[in-house]
Amino acid sequence: MNEAPREQWGSRLGFILAAVGSAVGLGNMWRFPYFAAENGGAAFVFLYIFMVALVGIPIMLAEFAIGRGAKKSPIQALAHFGGRRWKPLGVLFVAGGFLILSYYAVIAGWTLRYLWNALITGFAGDPAAFFGQVSTGGDAVAWHLLFMVITITIVAGGIRGGIERSAIILMPLLFLIVLGLAVFASTLDGAGAGYAFYLTTDFREIFSLDVLSEATSQAFFSLSLGMGAMLTYSSYLSRDDNMPREAVIIAGSDFLIAFLAGLMVFPLIFALGLSEQLSGSTIGALFIGLPNAFAEMGAVGRPVGVLFFFALFVGALTSAISLLEVVVAAIIDTVRWPRRKAALIMGVLITLAGIPSAFDITVLGVVDQIAGNLFLVFGALCLAIFVGWVMPDPIAELRRGGERVAWLPLWYGFIRYVVPPLLLLVLYFTVRATFEMIVGLFGG
Ligand code: PFF
Repeated sequence: MNEAPREQWGSRLGFILAAVGSAVGLGNMWRFPYFAAENGGAAFVFLYIFMVALVGIPIMLAEFAIGRGAKKSPIQALAHFGGRRWKPLGVLFVAGGFLILSYYAVIAGWTLRYLWNALITGFAGDPAAFFGQVSTGGDAVAWHLLFMVITITIVAGGIRGGIERSAIILMPLLFLIVLGLAVFASTLDGAGAGYAFYLTTDFREIFSLDVLSEATSQAFFSLSLGMGAMLTYSSYLSRDDNMPREAVIIAGSDFLIAFLAGLMVFPLIFALGLSEQLSGSTIGALFIGLPNAFAEMGAVGRPVGVLFFFALFVGALTSAISLLEVVVAAIIDTVRWPRRKAALIMGVLITLAGIPSAFDITVLGVVDQIAGNLFLVFGALCLAIFVGWVMPDPIAELRRGGERVAWLPLWYGFIRYVVPPLLLLVLYFTVRATFEMIVGLFGG
């Protein structure tokens, strides 16, 4: 075989930042704060942390064990440890990456559109009408396309030259901006009301199984789990990283940004008395409530708006890169196309697949529910079964770096006996929610 040697990350920090880049995205700034505000406030935040520790980190380690162990993209990696029968799961992962990116890039296109407003034209007088105008149709398609061009260019640049380099520059910047804006927001008059809306605790909420299952699927979405993104990124590692430590760092950073995002968003909205904008949806909060707040703020509104939408764009970009990489890595490994060709052709196909979502926000919501929730929960369940019951000695795989992590046997027991039944329960609720959504659409 005279193939090019498999690409590798240049440094441990590069891998961590790329993985954090995959994790931190619209899920953190768009879904998390709003879920928390709706579902019990601080109680939801605790439930979420609990689910991240209980199933998020274990599934991330499962992906790392497979990815770093096999050093292959998802389809081949699953076959490597489990035989051909497991290939369809890898195909599902690739399909998931394809579908999630198709609508994710549409929303990311909106962030670019708003960044443009903040920089050049200023925010519209009637943000709700404006959002209606730019979120669907020709405008949405144009910005979706631009976003995909940027994503494709970076993925075509390769693991080290494209993905790692962009993460090393962008992720520290993103963190500083979110932190800076959260501090700035705390100085505003309405900050207290914003925090109250975000975190007022209602413990009754979190004892519902619906909320538990939402917290779980949100954890998977936010940590990029259940569709082979972390598996693919870890396949470019050399053997000597301490995977359990890495998993805790990545999950911790992801949570920190999601939590900070709430501390940034709600005070801004409440400071300007626009809380009625929150009633609609998470999208309403981000793309209607905030531009309104920035417009009301006077001179500081524009620079604050630029920073905010830039951070949102960066988060979306580094996540989109990982989604495309799952698809591209699979094509490189199976069809043996060179990276650039794979990135370009698959990127174009994904862009086309996103057009229905750019024309109809209902389509976007349905694809999000199916690929962004259902696929991930199902994928994570299969991963737990695979690593717990099929793969030979995953603990040894995770210990290749030579480290002795005391809790790995505990992790293994968990992945075998605790995670599968729990995820089966979550899957039941997710299937039900998906079903209700679809029936609701047809029922009018
Ligand atoms: N983790 C990303 C976010 O929170 O926005 C979304 C995502 C990226 C999901 C990559 C799944 C994935 F494989």
